[in-house]
Formats: sequence, structure tokens, C-alpha cells
Amino acid sequence: MIETLPKPLLRVFAGETLNPPPWWLMRQAGRYLPEYRALRARAADFVSLCLTPPLAAEATLQPIRRFGMDAAILFSDILLVPYALGQKLGFRGDGPALDPVADRHAAAALSGGQVGARLAPVFEAAARVRTELPASTALIGFAGAPWTVATYMVEGGTSRDFAAVRAWAYRDPAGFAALLELIEAATIEFLAGQVAAGAEIVQLFDSWAGILPEPGFVRWVIEPTRRIVTALKQRCPECRVIGFPRGAGLLYERYMLETGVDGLGLDTVVPIGYASARLQSRIPVQGNLDPVLLRVGGAALAEAVAALRRGLGNAPYVFNLGHGVLPETPVENVAELARLMAEPLSD
Ligand code: CP3
Repeated sequence: MIETLPKPLLRVFAGETLNPPPWWLMRQAGRYLPEYRALRARAADFVSLCLTPPLAAEATLQPIRRFGMDAAILFSDILLVPYALGQKLGFRGDGPALDPVADRHAAAALSGGQVGARLAPVFEAAARVRTELPASTALIGFAGAPWTVATYMVEGGTSRDFAAVRAWAYRDPAGFAALLELIEAATIEFLAGQVAAGAEIVQLFDSWAGILPEPGFVRWVIEPTRRIVTALKQRCPECRVIGFPRGAGLLYERYMLETGVDGLGLDTVVPIGYASARLQSRIPVQGNLDPVLLRVGGAALAEAVAALRRGLGNAPYVFNLGHGVLPETPVENVAELARLMAEPLSD
């Protein structure tokens, strides 16, 4: 048997501190890359791109070939779960459009029966990527956390105030819980399928965790996340889960303690000193460069990267942004970041 090569990302999740730390970027595949735009033009629409394994695998590998990140994140989308549950999903110029699931009656029309079959192309893409990745590059799978996925399903797209989803959750907690359970079961299937196909780590994106007061955060962010982590680890004890409860603020700590995640994705505004003292003292952290600094580049980028590495690089740490790469980011700035990340930090 060939011994598995020690991938830097996996070493960090085994408790090691590396200098330089491994790095990857949320939304590292996407519109800032000219080769992605060319690939995107070959698919009928964004959902077909995600569900055509050779194209999705190619989109996943593009940033790795150019910049050599330590991890590839499978090219897919969190909204494939509502699609798999039978909700109509499209992407217009400005973002996703779904037929809103406004109440428990609308939710009753959804079904988990087809999830595995409808998401099978994603698993096939993951398997293809695994065979093509360099030996030191880890494969990350992902899903949206149920709360964030529910916001898109209920609001019908990206929202400004999330009034409809919060109103339903507060007015009809039992009906809303049934929707979350449906999403939760589909998410477990989605993640377990990615892991079975070769993903070594998965990230749960809870992009809108930060809009809930504490009781809702516990009920709709922490509890579903904990159940997903538990179910996933029953199926694959060796897989690792990164939780990214964006905007959780003072609730980051409770999320860390109660969900069972193996690592925490820090959003842009989590203070480094706080993260180091209160979060990274218990589990590896990942983050949290402001994506605008990557867009700006130059001395501002170099200084911020060094400050992050000084602040978090003395314990298990994965370098990343605090949110996704912006589409207008110059490719040269990402190349410059790759050069910075290749150097150990001295002093
Ligand atoms: O490189 C990667 O990080 C992997 C691929 C990835 C995509 N979406 C591809 C994508 C990942 C990890 C996601 C996660 C995702 N999708 C999230 C969580 C992270 C976050 O940004 O908060 C959310 C909320 C979504 C839902 C979604 N998908 C929205 C709101 C949009 C429209 C906004 C936009 O950026 O266009 C998408 C579309 C999308 N997902 C694109 C890509 C590359 C752009 C589609 C295109 O090519 O036209």
C-alpha cells in the first residue's frame, strides 16, 4: 500500500502548526479568472455547469493550476440542495432566483426522495477532481448550513432584511423546524456523498448566521449544525468539518463549543487577538483577510497578510479570506498572495 502523503491542510487539522500555514480562498474558482469565464460560456447556465462533472471538475482545478493553493474546493453551490429537494432554481445576472417556499404548505410539496440521484453529478465531479489533484493538495467539499439555505428558499433569493424567513420561523416554529429537518437530511446526504467520492474535509457555509438573536441562533444555527456534524462523523469518523458561521460575533464561542466542528472559519470582522485567545486555543481557525485587500493588492495586502500570520500563525491555522474572492479581483494580486504564502514568516 502506498503511504498517504502528508497534506498540509490535513496536518493542521491533526493539530500541527505550520510555517507557512496552508492556504486556500473561498470562491477561489469563479469570475475573476478568465479561464472560468470561458468555461462558464460553454455551459447553458450556472446550474448545468455545476451538474456537468467534467466542467465542474475543470472549474475546481483552474485555480490550483494557476496558484497552487493547498486545497481545492469542489465547484458546486449551496443552492443545489433546494434544487435536489424539488425547488425551481435559476440564476439571473444579479443572483439566484427560487420560487419562494413561503409556509408549511409550500414546504409539503418538497421531497427528499430524489436528493442522492439529483446530486450524483456533484459526487462524480468530486471523484474526478481527486484523481487529478497534486498529492499534497486536499479536497474540500461543502454545503450551506440549513439556516442559510432556508433563507434563500423562503425569501426566493438573496435578501436585504430576511423579514419573511424570520417571520415564518417566529410565527410557526414547528412548521419551520420541519423545513429545516428536510434541508438537514438532504445536507447530510450531500456531504456524505462528497466525502465518499473523495472530499477529505467539508465546510458548512452559514453565511447568514449573523442575523439571528441568541435563541434563534441556538435553535436554527447551532442545533442543526451539531446534528449534521454528528451524523457525518458516524458515517465517516475520519472526515473533518469546518464551520463558517459568518457574522456570529459574540456567538462564535458558543458555536465552537456546542456544534462539534473541527475548525472555525472566521469572517472579516473577528478580531485577531480575540480569535487567538478564545477560539484558536481550542480548535484550528481559518481566515480572515478582508477580500477588498486582495482586490487592492500591493503594500496594503502584504502588510495585512503578515499581520494575520503573526497573530494566528503560532497555533493551528489555515490562511483564507473572511469571505469570498470578489469578481473584480485582479488575477496578479492572487499570484502575489501565492508568493507571499510560499515564504515562511521570519522574526
Ligand atoms: O470556489 C469556490 O469557493 C467553490 C464554489 C462555490 C460557489 N458558491 C460557486 C458560485 C461556493 C463555495 C459557493 C458557496 C455559496 N453559494 C454561498 C456561501 C458563501 C457566501 O458567498 O456567502 C452562497 C450564499 C451561495 C449562493 C449563491 N451562488 C449566490 C448568492 C450566488 C450569486 C452571487 C454571485 O456571486 O454570483 C451564487 C452564484 C455562484 N456560485 C457563482 C459561483 C462561481 C457565480 C455564478 C456565475 O458564474 O455566474
